[in-house]
Amino acid sequence: MAREPIRVGLTFDDVLLVPRRSGVTTRSAVDTATRLTRQIEMAIPVVSANMDAVTESEMAIALARAGGIGVIHRFLPIDRHAAEVRRVKRAESVVIERPYTFSPGQTIREAIAFMEEHGAAGLLVVDADGTLLGLVTARDLLFEDDLDQPVSSVMTPRARLVTAPPDVGIDEARAVLHRHRLEKLPLIDGEGKLRGLITSRDIQSRLKYPHATKDAKGRLRTGAAVGIRGDYMERAAAVVVEGADVLVMDVAHAHTEAAIEALVRLRQAFPDVSIVAGNVATAEGTRDLIARGADAVKVGVGPGSTCTTRVVTGAGVPQLTAVLDCAQAAADHGIPLIADGGIRNSGDMTKALAAGASSVMLGNLLAGTQESPGALIVRNGRQYKTYRGMASLWAAARRRALETPVEEEDISQIVAEGVEAMVPYRGKAADVLAQLVGGLRSGMSYCGARVIPELWEKAEFMHITVAGLRESLPHDVEPT
Ligand code: XMP
Repeated sequence: MAREPIRVGLTFDDVLLVPRRSGVTTRSAVDTATRLTRQIEMAIPVVSANMDAVTESEMAIALARAGGIGVIHRFLPIDRHAAEVRRVKRAESVVIERPYTFSPGQTIREAIAFMEEHGAAGLLVVDADGTLLGLVTARDLLFEDDLDQPVSSVMTPRARLVTAPPDVGIDEARAVLHRHRLEKLPLIDGEGKLRGLITSRDIQSRLKYPHATKDAKGRLRTGAAVGIRGDYMERAAAVVVEGADVLVMDVAHAHTEAAIEALVRLRQAFPDVSIVAGNVATAEGTRDLIARGADAVKVGVGPGSTCTTRVVTGAGVPQLTAVLDCAQAAADHGIPLIADGGIRNSGDMTKALAAGASSVMLGNLLAGTQESPGALIVRNGRQYKTYRGMASLWAAARRRALETPVEEEDISQIVAEGVEAMVPYRGKAADVLAQLVGGLRSGMSYCGARVIPELWEKAEFMHITVAGLRESLPHDVEPT
């Protein structure tokens, strides 16, 4: 059988970016703005991985505030998945259009449970036709002994509330909140019906996170992962109803008939929602997904830090080559690429972007942060968080149970393609992101690029040797 010559595949450590004459004077002159998908723009090119040890609402909120985006994993029952999306969409907005409401006869006990479940600090009390009757805040409920009383007995009644009309301007709302030292400003129409809510926290947040990734209504953006089997259409519908901005297909090998069929169905059902398709590692895979309506393509087969796909299956493409190959195909269509997996530092991030990606997806680097759902562990006086591949044994067993419920799961039949591990605790996601983005800015300035598209044009890679890599790392010094 005649074969093509075997190509060489390269990854991050195999190359360096050649420094070139640069007119960039300071790191702050570099702009990291990019696109996640055809439609969604972001201030920093970072996406948190749709893994159960990485992204739920807390991480998604942190990422969006920093100017990136999080993708909430799908290993949750559909209603909990939708609730995680809701938390992000409600974390801040200019006007909360559908504030949480309670009816006057509901009990304090119910109100406490609701606030805990939804992370709400207050509830507006309305009657059956939506007329505002009062406001209950967590403080009103704090020292109540009789939890079976109706909320109407502890609420601040409508007559004592400061309200505003639905079309109040943001500056005016801010002035009213400040003047009355208020936390919440309900918006009511001429008939006294509740039409929305503005909170001082949201207004402060707008000032605190000027680069946040937001939708047209001023709500933080979030992604949600969906599979390609079982309940995926129902799951997609549930997260879209809650305002998910992007559906991210979660398949290890998306260049398959099944994945393409799922993409076509998702595209038809959700024409107005961004869809990220993947993962692929070839130009042909990229083209096929774009042809079926992908708004972005996710690249990476086996580079992830917890992946054993390449060992177990023998398949994969070293990540730098995968991004370079896919980028050529995607550039013809103006479709952004997300480089997913294997990024260990800001240098890798710069290389992935220089190869043609518009953003990077991070698992490992964010799994150790405060906002990840993983448990904190202390070993020998050091703090760690748990992290596991989504195709690791127990994660795969859980996923199978969700996708194809069976009476008794036969664990021995599962072929795992990932490991369960732990990573050092790294503090707040925002601090980790600041370091990464700082490194990226420097890397871009070494390449003479002020913006990411200029990096694509100007980057020159050099293939280095093992000796070159050794020289790149700290050497000939003793650790302190
Ligand atoms: P990092 O290197 O940032 O990579 O930890 C995160 C990405 O790894 C992928 N992933 C897996 N790949 N088996 C695999 O082959 C797994 O069990 C697994 N879990 C996650 C995924 O693309 C993620 O974004």
